[in-house]
Amino acid sequence: MSFDLVLFGGTGDLAWRKLMPALFQAFRHGTLPAGGRIIGVGRDDLSAEQYRALIRARFDGVDLAKRPGDGEFERFAALLDFVRMDLSKPDDYAKLTAMLAQRHTDTVVMYVATAPNLFTTVCEQLAAAGLNTPTTRIVLEKPLGHDLASNRAINATVRQVFGEKQVFRIDHYLGKPAVQNLFALRFGNALFEPLWRREHIANIQITIAEDIGVEKRGAFYENTGALRDMVQNHALQLLCAIGMEPPINSHADAIRDEKLKVLRSLAPWTPETLKQDVIRGQYSAGVIGGTAVSAYRAEPGVQALSQTETFVALRTEIANWRWAGVPFYIRTGKRLAGRDARIVVNFRPTPHAIFNSNIGVANRLVINLQPKDGLELHLLAQGQDNRRNSNNLAPVQLDLDFDKRFGAERVGAYERLLLDVIDGRLNLFVRSDEQEEAWRWVEPILEHWKNDSQGPRLYAAGTWGPSASSAMIARDGFCWSEES
Ligand code: BG6
Repeated sequence: MSFDLVLFGGTGDLAWRKLMPALFQAFRHGTLPAGGRIIGVGRDDLSAEQYRALIRARFDGVDLAKRPGDGEFERFAALLDFVRMDLSKPDDYAKLTAMLAQRHTDTVVMYVATAPNLFTTVCEQLAAAGLNTPTTRIVLEKPLGHDLASNRAINATVRQVFGEKQVFRIDHYLGKPAVQNLFALRFGNALFEPLWRREHIANIQITIAEDIGVEKRGAFYENTGALRDMVQNHALQLLCAIGMEPPINSHADAIRDEKLKVLRSLAPWTPETLKQDVIRGQYSAGVIGGTAVSAYRAEPGVQALSQTETFVALRTEIANWRWAGVPFYIRTGKRLAGRDARIVVNFRPTPHAIFNSNIGVANRLVINLQPKDGLELHLLAQGQDNRRNSNNLAPVQLDLDFDKRFGAERVGAYERLLLDVIDGRLNLFVRSDEQEEAWRWVEPILEHWKNDSQGPRLYAAGTWGPSASSAMIARDGFCWSEES
């Protein structure tokens, strides 16, 4: 199947950090369909040769195992081309039209990895140039909008130009292997499904912790913050994957319908819950891995008195028959104690205790997303004391390490999602109604913060965030998994 993949933002951060390495991995694994061309689009005056050299140089920053050797890069580079465009200039789209007309491929993928304020311009100009043909697919990176209104405006423009089945809204967390395995665990196995409900589950904790700061993205992050950057999309998508009903089949809309229902069932915010159940924080200077790191407010591009949150912890519920009353906790932040993304499902204690044991650390399923990728089932067992006929149980765990088990065959999130776009598989992409519902749910939090003079609570870099986050969960009689 022949394809042209047009990369708007072809010299940008995302292109060289994530997309080119992912395309190269697909090429190396032999999964990138033959007959492909990757066209970088940018404002720089580069020849195709210069673009290839630029990409080659950028690969030096990629993990050694994922870096191409010389001969390998030459073969990959043969797929790369470049076109200089100012995306706001209609005439420049004629250059792209001419380039695409050279080949008439089966599929044309337009990947819009630009600043979000260009999304609507690009869509409108593609339509004006007649480049929205039935074989075109468009990929839109997050953030898609800044709030519900801007998200709807983008979706409305996109809808005028493309059918929903041509639109691939990317949330790379859905492409992570651990998320595929979460679907497999829930819907490919009968074991957990009967337990997957309020009668057996005490609470669920979703943590996406990063130890990095805002790096070179201070100016972007300053206007975004953790709620828009991570909660509205990645964390809520994880919550959907955990909380959704089994879809009627594995088709994209069956899955997306169920995710949408979860988003619609999220408990609406009230003045009390906004005050008690949402904690925002911002990192101050601290130490990570033995190295001193500066405060968020000292990062380039950030205001000296910035009120932007780099941490959010919140409590919500899914108001339906399966989940009524079960707290779902979400927590994400930058410059935390470690890079650790996981979902912890805490089951209820046994109804009647005949052993002496600290049940807190057991009866728990942990879905590790990163850096580990796998499942841990924490149980209690008779430990060494059994000779003494002890009544004490000890925690043990079944540990499934998917990296070890599937190692070489593992496919990274962007690699997987790019191949899905080229093949036209929408399962792991977000529909506009899901996205709008997620914005609708986070908006009251944004509104509340606008009027809340307290601002974010400071936390030292290298910790797990403000202590108020632990206090929030302790109110329910629980604690974050690393505190138990
Ligand atoms: C992006 C956010 O969507 O996800 C970044 O904009 C964040 O701020 C990144 O660092 C985290 O992705 P991953 O795959 O490294 O966990």
